[in-house]
Amino acid sequence: MKTVVFSSKSYDEEFLNAANGGAAHKLRFLPARLDETTASLAKGYDAVCVFVNDLVNGTVVDTLADLGVKAIALRCAGYNNVDIARARERGIAVVRVPAYSPHAVAEFAATLLFSLNRRIHKAYNRVREGNFELAGLMGFDLVGKTVTVVGTGKIGSIFARIMHCIGCRILAVDAYRNPELEALGVTYVTFHEALPQSDVISLHCPLTAETRHLVNAESLSLMKHGLLLINTGRGALIDTAAVIAALKSGILGGLALDVYEEEDKLFFSDHSHEIIPDDVFMRLTTFPNVLLTGHQAFFTKEALEQIATVTLQNLSDLESEGRSANQL
Ligand code: NAI
Repeated sequence: MKTVVFSSKSYDEEFLNAANGGAAHKLRFLPARLDETTASLAKGYDAVCVFVNDLVNGTVVDTLADLGVKAIALRCAGYNNVDIARARERGIAVVRVPAYSPHAVAEFAATLLFSLNRRIHKAYNRVREGNFELAGLMGFDLVGKTVTVVGTGKIGSIFARIMHCIGCRILAVDAYRNPELEALGVTYVTFHEALPQSDVISLHCPLTAETRHLVNAESLSLMKHGLLLINTGRGALIDTAAVIAALKSGILGGLALDVYEEEDKLFFSDHSHEIIPDDVFMRLTTFPNVLLTGHQAFFTKEALEQIATVTLQNLSDLESEGRSANQL
C-alpha cells in the first residue's frame, strides 16, 4: 500500500524499511505529527501509519476519508488517540500492533521502580560531580513489600512475575483474573482495597473513560504514606496536579513516569534549546524523588522489529484480504 508514515524517526525508517521485503509497500516517511494541520499531507496515499501522539480525532478522520485514505495503521498497541467509531463510519480500517514486546515495557517498569527506590538518578549525577555523599539516597528493601499491579494483561502479568521473583507480596487489580498469577500467590483485590496496603503501585491498564485520573486526590488520600507510584501505562491515568500535591505533602514517597498527560507537546523530540512552557511538567522535574523518562519503555530492538513486521503485515492483509486480524 502507498503509505505515509507520520511522526517518523530514524529508527522507524530503519526498522520499517528492513521489514518491507521487496518494497511491498511504498513508504514515505514524514517527521510531522498527524493532526488537523497536517492531515492534508496524506493526499495521494492509501494508508497513514501513526504512533501514540498522533492525533486522529473525528476531524482528522474526515479529512483522511475525503482524501481517499483507506487505512490507519497504528504502530503501537494503545489506540486512545484514534476516533475508532468515526473511522468505521467513514469506511477506514484501523489496525494496530496488539503486542510487540510486553517484556520491554515490564522490564522498564521494574527498572524505574528499582532506580527510583535507590535514587540512581541522583547518585549518577552526584558521582559525576565528585560528590560521594549518601544522605538523601536511602531506599528500602523491596523483599517482603506489597506491590500492586493495576491491569494484569500482557505487560502487567510479566511485571507481577518480576516483582514476585524479588520476593514481594503481589496484589492485582483487574476484572479479569489471571489464573497463572493466582497460582503464584497473587491476590486480586479492588483498587480501593489495594491503596492502604501498597508500598508500590504500578499502572498497566489502558486509558479509558473509566481509568482516566484513576490516581486522583481521593485515591491518593487513601494511599499508604511514602508509596512509590510507577506509570508506564498512559499519562492521563494520573491527575498530575493531584500527584504534585501528594509529593509536596509526602503521601507519595516517589514517582516514576514514562508517560505524561500532556506528552504529545513534548515527547519524542529535542526541546533542550527551548523554554518549555509546561509548568506542571517542569515542576515535576524539580522533585528529588521523581524520575521521568520520555515514553521509552517500549524502545528495544526486539519491540521495534516486531512493530515493523506486524504493521506491514497488517497493511498486506488489508490489501490482499480486505481485513486484518489486528483490526479494531
Ligand atoms: P492488555 O490489554 O494486555 O492488558 C490490559 C489489562 O488492563 C487487561 O487485563 C484489562 O482487563 C485491564 N484493565 C482494563 N481496565 C482496567 C481497570 N479499570 N482497572 C484495572 N485493570 C483494568 O494491555 P498491555 O499490552 O498489557 O498494555 C497495557 C497498557 O500499557 C496499554 O494500554 C498502553 O497504554 C501501555 N503501554 C505503554 C507503553 C510504553 O512504552 N510506555 C508501550 C505499550 C503499552
